[in-house]
Amino acid sequence: MVRIGFAYNQKPDDEEARTGDDEPRADEEPPSSSRILQTRNDSTSRVAGAFQPQHTSNRSSTDDEYAEWDSSETVSAVEHALSGLGEVVRLKANADFPERLRAERPDIVFNMAEGLRGVNRESHVPAMCEFFGIPYSGSDPFTLSLCLDKARTKECLAYHGIPNAPFQVVHDASSYSGALRFPVFVKPVHEGSSKGITERNYCRTPSEMREQVAFLLDRYRQPVLIEEFLTGAEFTCAVLGNGGDAHVLPIVGMNFEVLPSGSLPVYGFEAKWLWDRPEQPLEIFECPARIDEALRCTIERVVLAAYRVLGCRDWSRIDVRLDAAGVPNVVEVNPLPGILPDPADNSCFPKAARAAGLSYDELIQTCVRYAADRQGVSLPSNAARRRRMGVARAAASS
Ligand SMILES: Nc1ncnc2c1ncn2[C@@H]1O[C@H](COP(=O)(O)OP(=O)(O)OP(=O)(O)O)[C@@H](O)[C@H]1O
Ligand SMILES: [Mg+2]
Repeated sequence: MVRIGFAYNQKPDDEEARTGDDEPRADEEPPSSSRILQTRNDSTSRVAGAFQPQHTSNRSSTDDEYAEWDSSETVSAVEHALSGLGEVVRLKANADFPERLRAERPDIVFNMAEGLRGVNRESHVPAMCEFFGIPYSGSDPFTLSLCLDKARTKECLAYHGIPNAPFQVVHDASSYSGALRFPVFVKPVHEGSSKGITERNYCRTPSEMREQVAFLLDRYRQPVLIEEFLTGAEFTCAVLGNGGDAHVLPIVGMNFEVLPSGSLPVYGFEAKWLWDRPEQPLEIFECPARIDEALRCTIERVVLAAYRVLGCRDWSRIDVRLDAAGVPNVVEVNPLPGILPDPADNSCFPKAARAAGLSYDELIQTCVRYAADRQGVSLPSNAARRRRMGVARAAASS
């Protein structure tokens, strides 16, 4: 039977994270250096004009510490999906991971580990798999590190003529050279899952920008990306496959009208983690997006071009936004896409998969199959697997 290693990072229990009285062990330190994201001291809305964001209240705190890691529900759901292909070996990506990986030597690893620390954290698991010669799913260490640096990603896209917003990277608040058109949007260069991305990041003037850049530099201890704000519609695109087989699943469109009145058209921390509640879900996604054929084709072309030049493999999710001229620009690329299993959780990749007729299990299994094909690992066909399960069930009941 095929042995499938499953590499993941799991959030500590909600209770532990809240009380803080059971701190994570050193080998489970979360990726971000920030423990609590606090908004700045001035509570007054400083944005006038087109958008009037409702800023998070004065000194309120929004804990984004573990935003990148997966919940126990997601880990269990993925394990269940993988068990449809073979025997699953759980490999929590903590300090014991290298020894466990070497001792277990699975036939292939399904990687969804976001990593422990540092700007190359997403690359550590794939790099270790390569070191031990063990096949794994998804992009290689280089692509994972590249995509976790939003600025280097944009340089690569720009070199290949793939549209993305004009930008600058700053290491201190005073080094902005003044070349961008306002409004701008600022964000930490090495984060994901909307860490450090709140409505405050929309800046109409250089002085607002300097203030927020100083805040982000201090809070996240990494350079800040300053981009021209893309004013058009936003989409996110799930991609599956490799080479000529790579294809975009039905495109997910963002309907910002469902956000609280006065908020910005931004899918950031507030929309993802504060305003979208199980008791009151935000119906922000439309899938398939209601766009005409021509725009769909243009978005797909841009997305697949980005997927290829960045070296993405097996799967990725690519965020796109139209500029003022209606041209699709790549916002960022996620080679380790979020995959929350519960349809109520508003997770884009599973949603796009469902629209394509793929169940959650089929989505995970398809990703593993692409990885296995690339690396010459043979997996049981779906039919063979079902037959074997039937025989096992019959034997157990006799
Ligand atoms: N240049 C921009 N112009 C307009 N909106 C932007 C821009 N950059 C980011 N945004 C908004 O901020 C959101 C979050 O930005 P981004 O996707 O870069 O962050 P992330 O934390 O990596 O996201 P994810 O949760 O998808 O990993 C985008 O979905 C978009 O709504
Ligand atoms: Mg994004």
